[in-house]
Amino acid sequence: MARPQLVTAVGHALRAPSVHNTQPWRWRIGGDSAELHADWGRHLVATDPDRRDLVVSCGAALHHLLVALAAQGLEAEVDRLPNPDDAGHLATVTLRPGAGQAADAALFPAIERRHTDRRRMSHRPVPADALTVLGEHARRAGAVLVPTRDTTMRGRLTAALVEAAHRQEPSAGYTVELELWTRRYAGARDGVPPESIAPAPVGAVGASPLRRFPHGRLDQPRQLPGHGSADDAAELLVIATTGDTVVDRLRAGEAVSAVLLAATRLGLATTPLSQGVEIDAVRQAIQRDVLHVPEQPQLVLRVGWPASRAAELPLTPRRDLHSVLLST
Ligand SMILES: Cc1cc2nc3c(=O)[nH]c(=O)nc-3n(C[C@H](O)[C@H](O)[C@H](O)COP(=O)(O)O)c2cc1C
Repeated sequence: MARPQLVTAVGHALRAPSVHNTQPWRWRIGGDSAELHADWGRHLVATDPDRRDLVVSCGAALHHLLVALAAQGLEAEVDRLPNPDDAGHLATVTLRPGAGQAADAALFPAIERRHTDRRRMSHRPVPADALTVLGEHARRAGAVLVPTRDTTMRGRLTAALVEAAHRQEPSAGYTVELELWTRRYAGARDGVPPESIAPAPVGAVGASPLRRFPHGRLDQPRQLPGHGSADDAAELLVIATTGDTVVDRLRAGEAVSAVLLAATRLGLATTPLSQGVEIDAVRQAIQRDVLHVPEQPQLVLRVGWPASRAAELPLTPRRDLHSVLLST
């Protein structure tokens, strides 16, 4: 019986990133397996009409689980969408003989250190070999990481994200969900706290690719006068998959987790950005007119060095293990 190790690993998987920190997952732990189920009650109907963000978030939790098992020296097999009669049963992870992947185990310490950083980043460019390492992590997890190194391409991607924001922000449903998940009731263990949201940096010249959140109370890192504009050198990278089925989205989430943890390990700051994939016409335009790739865009990741003088970010809340466990 490996139940205690599975319980420990699911506990670590709770730290996975999720859209608006909705944590849209449930787990059922058996003797030698753990089932991952979508929690449709936590679906952002207006923001994420295709349920893409929800499944990507669950994929990130699945990868966190595999990393936490590997760190305990446990090998596992994943059956994705194992039950054709239950679309919410996203995966079953079963332990099997073996020691776990060393490359996964190496990512484990990053689970507790990773944060979504929405502040201005550094002017220091991300080296090409770091991008190669991140791309390799995405590939191992079954996705591709498309860089936008070229300034024209990057400008077009930013413009697509701005366009998505312009379409979403007048929608009452979108605004209500944003309010609901950024202004939680006292004692809530989910949502995006004001301490994790920064106001736009003063003095930036270019358009911001970031989602606009209300109620921000996080300070931007101080910039000394004469040290350039507030525009930073963060890269925009796109996680994409060959198809766009639920399994592709789940794999995209696994790749998101792998890239975010690997970036954290390298000391890089990261921000997942999903507005560009929440409106399908914008998502298709990103594929067709910006990236020119056959793969399906699933999530944008902003990756850069933290700005000097950037303070430590607070940990965002998570629900307790017992509130996400399904009875066996
Ligand atoms: C699928 C997905 C979509 C997300 N979209 C955005 C986004 O558009 N903008 C943003 O600032 N953060 C986004 N996030 C980050 C979440 O808000 C963040 O993971 C959550 O609040 C928990 O905080 P943490 O990542 O610091 O643990 C997204 C995360 C995921 C997994």
